[in-house]
Amino acid sequence: MSNWTKSDWRAKPRIQMPDYTDAAALNAVEAQLSKYPPLVFAGEARRLKKHLADASRGDAFLLQGGDCAEAFDQFSADSIRDTFKVMLQMAMVLTYGAKVPVIKLGRMAGQFAKPRSAPTETINGVELPSYRGDIINELDFTPEARIPDPAKMLQAYTQAAATLNLLRAFSTGGFADMNMVHSWTLGFADGAETNRYSEIAARIQDTIDFMAAAGIDADTTHEFSTVEFYTSHESLLLEYEEALTRIDSTSGKWLAGSGHMIWIGDRTRQPDGAHVEFASGVQNPIGLKCGPTMTSDDLKALMAKLNPENEAGRLTLIARFGAGAVGEHLPRLINTVREEGANVVWVCDAMHGNTIKSSTGYKTRPFDSVLREVREFFGVHAAEGTTPGGVHFEMTGQDVTECTGGVRAVTDEDLSDRYHTACDPRLNASQSLELAFLVAEELSNLRNTRGKARAAS
Ligand code: PEP
Ligand code: CO
Repeated sequence: MSNWTKSDWRAKPRIQMPDYTDAAALNAVEAQLSKYPPLVFAGEARRLKKHLADASRGDAFLLQGGDCAEAFDQFSADSIRDTFKVMLQMAMVLTYGAKVPVIKLGRMAGQFAKPRSAPTETINGVELPSYRGDIINELDFTPEARIPDPAKMLQAYTQAAATLNLLRAFSTGGFADMNMVHSWTLGFADGAETNRYSEIAARIQDTIDFMAAAGIDADTTHEFSTVEFYTSHESLLLEYEEALTRIDSTSGKWLAGSGHMIWIGDRTRQPDGAHVEFASGVQNPIGLKCGPTMTSDDLKALMAKLNPENEAGRLTLIARFGAGAVGEHLPRLINTVREEGANVVWVCDAMHGNTIKSSTGYKTRPFDSVLREVREFFGVHAAEGTTPGGVHFEMTGQDVTECTGGVRAVTDEDLSDRYHTACDPRLNASQSLELAFLVAEELSNLRNTRGKARAAS
């Protein structure tokens, strides 16, 4: 829409956003952020969109992952490196299964603001405003900590800029060398309990050896040692988003400069609400979370508003129904997409429908439920003849104990050992990589059955 402006959302109903009490302080922060450089360049967002268009057709596969909430006190080079590292490992395994390029998209460098199921939290009879992410307030359970402070936006910007800087350095500076990435994976698949994955790992090694013999390696081939890595986050705190939104001089179109892809959460996807209004006017690829309450009419209205030109790669639908519920909801929404003739990328967020309370009182997610939701997602797409375009995980490269299960099993009793998330429970490095192997098997089964169906027809 040519007459759209980055402030239009202000005239729409706003939910899940803080009411800042100090208007002068808020204005000063917005003015400052508006002068700072954007974090991403429009050409990058357009390139990601092109890759996503490929994913909508089955010619690429999306891996989107990272923290539920980035936190100021967990900011370190090691944690960025470890998440980047495990995502590269997962991407290689998935590439092997899918036989198409895997798009690497972090929930990183901007994933700070959180929607909450309740505006307040009560502990031992004391009621305080909910924690809404480090860009808004603090996790400590004190009245002062829970006051929204606009200055936190500046700290979030600084952390996002430094994170992206390191990610860019890792992507092209030699850290992404396939030989090295795969050697870490071989280490994982070597364990007594993980050796069911050693066959795939060995086949990937064979492929690398074959390529090296044919003269394709890090010395000769750029693609062997560099990756494209993109960033994404929920576009929730619209004051921050607006301040980083600029007109891109090459296309004359608006760009949300806070990250390559932004997404709209399941709680803020009202077609006439502030969040959808904001996303509708920027040229970035847009993600849209689709939970069990998404109706066919909602989806139609949202597709019309967010992708009126039906541009491939513009809209990614991130299904998050929960294990056991995919069969009830995904087919009806696939049908809506089909009826509208819409171009979308279907992605499975296997985390947000699978959160439970452990017997020991922790918010957790069982590995088996995550896996089951991914399998149901693939099953529905196989039955409908549509394309599963990617997966979305809350994960970290750190050795945390937040989700239960996996071959190196985390039990309910283990959760207290290393439970560090600021918000939802994340898969740890081993659980993430194991899941990549299992998803690779699904992808390779799908390729085989589709290949056979094509051969027979
Ligand atoms: C999230 O991705 O962290 C999130 C809050 O998801 P959803 O909007 O799907 O609940
Ligand atoms: Co989350």
